[in-house]
Amino acid sequence: SLYSERNRPQFHFTTRRGWINDPNGLIYHDGQYHLFYQHNPYEREWQNMHWGHAISDDLIHWEELPDALYPDELGTMFSGSAVIDYDNTAGFNTDGVPAMIAAYTADSPEKQVQCIAYSLDNGRTFIKYKGNPVIDSKHSWNSKDTRDPKVFWYKPGNHWVMVLNERDGHSIYTSANLKDWKYESHVTGFWECPELFELPIDGNPENTKWVMYGASGTYMLGSFDGKVFTPEAGKYPYTAGSIYAAQTFTNMPDGRRVQIGWGRISHAGMPFNGMMLLPTELTLRTTKEGPRLFNVPVKETEQLFSSVRQWENLTSDQANELLDEFDRADGLRIKTAFKLSHATSAGFNLFGQRIIDYDLNFNTVNGTFYSPADRTSMEISADIYIDRTSIEVFIDGGAFSYSMERKPHADNQEGFHFWGNNIEVKNLEVFSAQSIWK
Ligand code: FRU
Repeated sequence: SLYSERNRPQFHFTTRRGWINDPNGLIYHDGQYHLFYQHNPYEREWQNMHWGHAISDDLIHWEELPDALYPDELGTMFSGSAVIDYDNTAGFNTDGVPAMIAAYTADSPEKQVQCIAYSLDNGRTFIKYKGNPVIDSKHSWNSKDTRDPKVFWYKPGNHWVMVLNERDGHSIYTSANLKDWKYESHVTGFWECPELFELPIDGNPENTKWVMYGASGTYMLGSFDGKVFTPEAGKYPYTAGSIYAAQTFTNMPDGRRVQIGWGRISHAGMPFNGMMLLPTELTLRTTKEGPRLFNVPVKETEQLFSSVRQWENLTSDQANELLDEFDRADGLRIKTAFKLSHATSAGFNLFGQRIIDYDLNFNTVNGTFYSPADRTSMEISADIYIDRTSIEVFIDGGAFSYSMERKPHADNQEGFHFWGNNIEVKNLEVFSAQSIWK
């Protein structure tokens, strides 16, 4: 039956059939979360892009609906975003129903243009705007790479903002009506699927910064005046690995900034390909190096996991032995903190696959430098989510995170395995995982 295939992820969204990549049009409206996504309904390969559509009451359990956007004479349906036009700025609202408006890219061999479409039935059906495209970017940029509009309402200026991937970074456009757009500015150094949003630092609404990121998991902090994003300092990674093209939800009911990323995980032999990673909450927290972006699974995720074992102060040999019984588990969550005794490296494997590879000399975790700013001891902590085909790891309370394909069990008999010189497993907790498809 559906969702019961051998390699069907059990607590991540996948499509019933076909290929998926980027999440699109993430929005909360009328009591439901909407997840649109790049979908090829016909094959397991990237091609024929449509917008697929799924809805959820809790960000965890998803119901797949029919596709929402189909290719047309302007091209196939590339990535974009969705807003609710409460003030009827575009004039599509009907009988008091505010339109859900999707901004997307139409891709053709000749060029990529930005378009809008509106829905009066909560995203079930979209009507494309007759005046499309609303931005014919080729004229201004002389580059085919102009796509992935992320639109939001900028309250202080009473106008819409669009962040758009163009050529070598993210451009900013503004509009009063979602139809006529004016180019304002450009930031170089990003590629695809732009995001721009404001976050409080340590939860203080009086002290905020704007975050800009692109598809690959690096971000810049800065200020934004409605037209220009001014970056302050460097560009940092907050997440890495198999994640790509993450987007955040518009109109969250509780003000959280919640993200879903595409998991570039292949599903050999399955009728589907690709997956969505766990929804995560993004926050800015003060570290010794200034404010940094943290990323942890949303609290709704907790309902899926039940604690089944918990230990403290183990040697790695003891821990490895105690974990034997979980070697063949389908899905698991493991929380652990371990302490190094030398300034070298240590980690945690599953059948030889490096789930954590912490190098204290270079301050890298699984190859990415993330500068553990508040590290005063030699300890590292991790919250690890293991599904049938993927592994997601959240280090040090979300200071850095990454995702990877879960490799099939090789000949390697080792199972779970802490490694490193005299490491001390300070704590270790194992949770069973529930399927979201029941
Ligand atoms: C990112 C991306 C987007 C584009 C979409 C096409 O993965 O390349 O830039 O809109 O995928 O499917």
